[in-house]
Amino acid sequence: MTAVLKVEDMSVTFDLHDSEVQAVREMNFTLAEGETLAVVGESGSGKSQAFLSIMGLLARNGRATGRAIMGDVNLIGMPPNQARYLSWQRHRDDFSGSDDIAKPNSQGQDAIGRGIGHASWF
Ligand SMILES: Nc1ncnc2c1ncn2[C@@H]1O[C@H](COP(=O)(O)OP(=O)(O)OP(=O)(O)O)[C@@H](O)[C@H]1O
Ligand SMILES: [Mg+2]
Repeated sequence: MTAVLKVEDMSVTFDLHDSEVQAVREMNFTLAEGETLAVVGESGSGKSQAFLSIMGLLARNGRATGRAIMGDVNLIGMPPNQARYLSWQRHRDDFSGSDDIAKPNSQGQDAIGRGIGHASWF
């Protein structure tokens, strides 16, 4: 079994003005190549924040601890840009098998553009 992603004791906390919110507490899982993981839980239980942390997309008042090992790197605690790049690169390889991700991307932009009535992309 080749582990694609190994998450160990990952916690996510948000700082508020005079308190903090512990959004994820010690999450652990291993995802093997070819496996699908479904995460189920009530609203506010931390599903989105867990995976945003792994992708380097946590809000500025958030901090993650623990490990999310992809290949030989730990994405947790990595500078956000670098974590975003690595997880994007991984998804690109998984889903397109090539460098050509322009099509789904522009389709998505078109769909969102239609939804808001205009499209202006930078
Ligand atoms: N920037 C933030 N500052 C403070 N708390 C936050 C912030 N972002 C998220 N939270 C809190 O983190 C907790 C987990 O939120 P999260 O969005 O991960 O829930 P979820 O399981 O994805 O919910 P849903 O099923 O509704 O999508 C919630 O209590 C939420 O209010
Ligand atoms: Mg969510």
